[in-house]
Amino acid sequence: MRVIIKPDYETVSKWVANYVVYHINKFRPTPERLFVLGLPTGGTPIGMYKELINLYQKRKVSFENVATFNMDEYIGLPPSNPQSYRFFMEENFFKHVNLKPQNIHMLNGLTKDYEKECRNYEKAIKDLGGVNLFIGGVGEDGHIAFNEPFSSLRSRTRVKTLTESTRQANARFFENNIEKVPTTAITVGVGTIMDSAEVLIMITGENKAEALQHAIEGNISHVWTVSALQMHPHGLIVCDKDATKKLSSETVAYFMDIEKNNF
Ligand code: PGA
Repeated sequence: MRVIIKPDYETVSKWVANYVVYHINKFRPTPERLFVLGLPTGGTPIGMYKELINLYQKRKVSFENVATFNMDEYIGLPPSNPQSYRFFMEENFFKHVNLKPQNIHMLNGLTKDYEKECRNYEKAIKDLGGVNLFIGGVGEDGHIAFNEPFSSLRSRTRVKTLTESTRQANARFFENNIEKVPTTAITVGVGTIMDSAEVLIMITGENKAEALQHAIEGNISHVWTVSALQMHPHGLIVCDKDATKKLSSETVAYFMDIEKNNF
C-alpha cells in the first residue's frame, strides 16, 4: 500500500485531481476503450471535483472517453432532491465537464427491483472491462462506500442499512436533522471496489484519524472495511496531516521518506 501525506485538504484535493488526469491521459482512452473511473460523493471529494473542473477548463484533460460509476445512492431520494447523490454529482462535477450522459453510471435509489439494479450495475462494470481507478473517501467508522462495519470484505453491489453514526455524520447535509437522513442505501460492495485495477482513498481531517490508523496499522477486518485495501495490489491512500494524528511517528516518517519524490 502507498500512503501520500500532504499538508492540508487543498493539497490533497489537487494531488488527487492531477493523479486522475495523469491516469486518464496515460491510458489514451478511445470510444472503443473507455477509461473507467469510480467516483465518490460527500464532503471529502468536493475539492478534487473543483480541481478536475479547473484542469478540464485548462484543456489538460477530456472526459469524452471516460465512463464513471458512482459508489452509492440513498434509497428513496429522487434525482431532483438536492441531497441525492445524483444531484450532488450533477452540481459538483457532471454538468461542468464533457462526460457523455450514456457513460455516466449511477445506482437508482428509486428502482422497484433492487436485486436487478445491483446485478445490472455489476454487469455494466464488467462489460466495460472493470474499473481502472476507483476513488473513494472513508467514514469515521472506516466504511468505504456504504459498506458499514461488519460488511463482508467480498461483498458486491447491494442494499445496506445505514448505521446511526453514519446518519448522524451525514445529517449535516440534511439541515442537521437525522430524521431526514434515509435509513438505507444502495452501494457497491467492498469486493466490487477491490476488483478495480487501482483504488485511491482520500482521508482528510482529524475526525478520520482513527479510520486512517485502522486502515494502515490495524488488522484487516470487516469492522473497518477500509482495511480491505491492505489486500489490494495497488492501494493508495492520500491523506492530510490532521488525519495522521493517530499513526505512530515511525509510520508517518516511513511514508514521508519513501514517497517524497513520487507523484
Ligand atoms: P465525507 O464522507 O467525505 O462527507 O466525510 C465520507 C464517507 O462517509 O464515506
